[in-house]
Amino acid sequence: MRKNIVAGNWKMNLNRTEGIALVEDVLAKLPTDNNTHVVFAPSFVYLHKVAKMCANTSKVAAAAQDCSSNEKGAFTGEISANMIASCNARYVVLGHSERRANFKESNELLKTKVGQAFTNNLKVIFCCGESLVQRESGVHFDWINTQISESLFHLSSEEFKNIVIAYEPIWAIGTGVTASTDQAQEIHAFIRNILVDQYGLEVALSTSILYGGSCKPSNAKELFASQDIDGGLIGGASLNSDDFIAITQSF
Ligand code: 13P
Repeated sequence: MRKNIVAGNWKMNLNRTEGIALVEDVLAKLPTDNNTHVVFAPSFVYLHKVAKMCANTSKVAAAAQDCSSNEKGAFTGEISANMIASCNARYVVLGHSERRANFKESNELLKTKVGQAFTNNLKVIFCCGESLVQRESGVHFDWINTQISESLFHLSSEEFKNIVIAYEPIWAIGTGVTASTDQAQEIHAFIRNILVDQYGLEVALSTSILYGGSCKPSNAKELFASQDIDGGLIGGASLNSDDFIAITQSF
């Protein structure tokens, strides 16, 4: 059975004190069902602290929000996958639309980052998603297929088991406009089908596919009840412990 995952992408929010308080709150109220996993993606600066706080349960983990495409060396300001793994984080988020847009991250570059992550035994939460213009012109299916296939389809079936996909329509991120459950389910089913074609049913059915984009306590239940939506990658609502806890309890 694939995991249900609720991951909080804090982006560039919460200082160390605020972050630690939030993790404490959430850890005190973890979902009781065995299949729900919680991931925190804080700033690099206190990733180690958050990972340490998560160390006592296999159902909670820390994630980095990005990693370098290089192994090591003269890349001032960059953080390598090895450094992330050495802080006991278990995941790295790659390909977030904000990184694709603001830092010009291409599918090709992300393929390299995935390689760095896997070399260091990190699981990858791989983000994909279309803009409103792309959706309105009907190219969103092709776009998402290309994002996934160009960055991930060089992986073996065995390697792909360490991938979590996050579908995040750009028009729904931070806008308050959530994709309808039908819109999200349609894309999630599409993604699962391309995984069936590439890797077969077993891998496709065991891959968790998360939805992200204005997911909050009021819509999480309906979204997560859909056949192919296995949780969420949460931005704004992950910064408030009551909201984030409510979302983790929405399965
Ligand atoms: P919001 O939940 O704030 O829309 O952000 C979603 C997101 O980008 C998570 O990675």
